[in-house]
Amino acid sequence: MAKQSPEVSWQSAVGCMLRRIETTATSLGTGFPHYGDPDTGSWTTSPAGDWTGGHWVGELWLASADTAEPRYREWAARWCAALRPRASSNTIFRSFLFYYGAALGDILGNDPHAQAIGLEGARGLAAMYNERAGVLPLGGEAEEASDVGDGEASIDAVGSVCGLLAWASEATGDESFRRIAREHALRHIDFCVREDGSVGQSATFDRETGAVLRRYTHKGYSERSTWGRAQAWGMLAYTLAARWIPGERAFLEAAERAAEWWLNHAPDDRVAYWDFDDPAIPNTFRDTSATAIAAAALLKLAALAPDRARGQRYRQAGKDIVQALVVGYLTPTGAEDRRPSGILTQGCYNPRIGLATRNELIWGDYYLLEALQVLTGKLQPLTV
Ligand code: GLY
Repeated sequence: MAKQSPEVSWQSAVGCMLRRIETTATSLGTGFPHYGDPDTGSWTTSPAGDWTGGHWVGELWLASADTAEPRYREWAARWCAALRPRASSNTIFRSFLFYYGAALGDILGNDPHAQAIGLEGARGLAAMYNERAGVLPLGGEAEEASDVGDGEASIDAVGSVCGLLAWASEATGDESFRRIAREHALRHIDFCVREDGSVGQSATFDRETGAVLRRYTHKGYSERSTWGRAQAWGMLAYTLAARWIPGERAFLEAAERAAEWWLNHAPDDRVAYWDFDDPAIPNTFRDTSATAIAAAALLKLAALAPDRARGQRYRQAGKDIVQALVVGYLTPTGAEDRRPSGILTQGCYNPRIGLATRNELIWGDYYLLEALQVLTGKLQPLTV
């Protein structure tokens, strides 16, 4: 694969990713792809989609919109239907499942079944809302190893909450979904976005008032460190909030602050380590999934930024990051690379429990494909 010229490599990188999607779709049983072995390409699957399965379906909706090939749409519809039982699971991470897995089917494919499933997910999610605190909690079934339930929160799903609930408002005319998303996103600025623009992952809050009781991390190096995905999820959170919930200046401001922090702290080669504060850097894990999320967020933020020069800087930064991922981490990474094609290697799921620290991660694949489609001009950055 020629990777020297970005204009050529975006298209050829999309081609590699589509081949990977094809191989995955034809090799799966009933489980959703969760994380993959970069050498063999085999997937560890999750029976009901965990928090990650919506990204797989989202890739299929993106592929369907890009190519208009009927098989992608058929796969997307089938996997979207398989998410349906999760509409009633008590986890905020349903927002990932039903935004990427179902709402995208309506937004990109005008699919009425996907719309109905997305609305089921949105209604289930909205029912978790704590009106007094102004927050959707993680919920008792949130897919974290500890610290879940009605008084815990994290930045991770704020963007997909905004996307899913605001989309549900537009699909139904019921603005109460968007109001919940707005309050939830505003509370998380206080919970997670620090003054300097770095983002902490998690908070415990008072269920009566929404006041912060503790700030901590579920997956980062330490309670005060900046976990790579927290920073990336924060960038995406406030970019999607600004896109889906217009008129709230605080969202764009938080997105720009978080983006500036990323750009000032990412390594020179642009691919983040799993936690910005791991003292073992550079002898520690990268996280290409965090990096892909950041790139997707920057490409959206470029289209939202009122300052044209700043917007161009974000677009260029997004491009440079995607280029670094494609050249260094998307298989094949060289003429001798015999691994299956189209794998985004070196994602880091959770080193605290030794889980999938140098793997393909299905959500990393999704955000890289989304960013590549923006760069090829097939997808407008603010469509999803
Ligand atoms: N909980 C989402 C993540 O691990 O990034």
